[in-house]
Amino acid sequence: MNAAGASLIDLSGKVILVTGGGNGLGADMASQFSRLGARVILADIAQEMAEATAAKVGNGALGVYCDIANAESVAQLADTARNAFGRIDALVNNAAHADLGADLDLLGTDPEVWSRTVDVNLTGTMHVSRAIVPIMLEGGGGSIATIVSRAGIAPPRSARRLAYSTTKAGLIMLARHMAVAYGKQGIRSNAIAPGTIETERMLRELSEERLTQSRANVLTPALGKPEDVSHMVAYLASDAGRFITGQTIQIDGGILTGLHE
Ligand SMILES: NC(=O)c1ccc[n+]([C@@H]2O[C@H](COP(=O)([O-])OP(=O)(O)OC[C@H]3O[C@@H](n4cnc5c(N)ncnc54)[C@H](O)[C@@H]3O)[C@@H](O)[C@H]2O)c1
Repeated sequence: MNAAGASLIDLSGKVILVTGGGNGLGADMASQFSRLGARVILADIAQEMAEATAAKVGNGALGVYCDIANAESVAQLADTARNAFGRIDALVNNAAHADLGADLDLLGTDPEVWSRTVDVNLTGTMHVSRAIVPIMLEGGGGSIATIVSRAGIAPPRSARRLAYSTTKAGLIMLARHMAVAYGKQGIRSNAIAPGTIETERMLRELSEERLTQSRANVLTPALGKPEDVSHMVAYLASDAGRFITGQTIQIDGGILTGLHE
């Protein structure tokens, strides 16, 4: 709260679309945005989860099916959003495909794993952005936050996750492109690069050994929580973030800063 008693991050009156909003970071963002006054559309390939999360989020939140890799499904999402709310003030490109067990190094990754990862993460995010930018422009602009990863900045030392890392690196360029292309028309576009965030999925999928290693490698006392990402994305979606665009913002406990011995 500032001296006047108003919240620094105020999203009242704003409509925010979160892809992959049914679960994990997307679901947390949807709740935080709603708490800060926004009406939220959660689009997810897992329809029941999107609907259940929307019901929990409240404030008129809408959970809808969308496979972002499918351009027709994305066009339907854009129509649904336009019909329901008439505008979109912020887009969070959060949905992603990650095949932890099969996305290995160059020689070890099956081309089908590569293709699905590229189709969802890179091409899918392009489809969504292409469908939503015109709606945003009609309303005078807005904020696009594309969730990438520290893996899109520096490849993991394990040399695993070739497809995932490569798509996330490409998304940093998509985010920068949109900042350059539509900035003067009022659209701000940033990439958000989380490190290890303790979502339920990460705690389930990562071994205790890997989590201990990650906790040792960050410069902070603990790993990140979902709200550490949500708060930054909410700030960017609010008018407080009006001069921030074209950036890649790392929310990773400084892990890439502390690489030297
Ligand atoms: N959790 C972390 O530590 C971490 C770290 C770095 C980056 N990220 C990124 O943050 C974002 C969210 O990650 P998360 O950990 O919450 O993952 P998650 O798997 O819990 O959530 C991803 C959501 O995307 C949805 N989804 C997958 N494919 C889709 C498609 N084709 N169309 C629509 N929806 C689809 C899933 O159903 C799911 O609800 C992702 O972009 C991820 O790469 C997460």
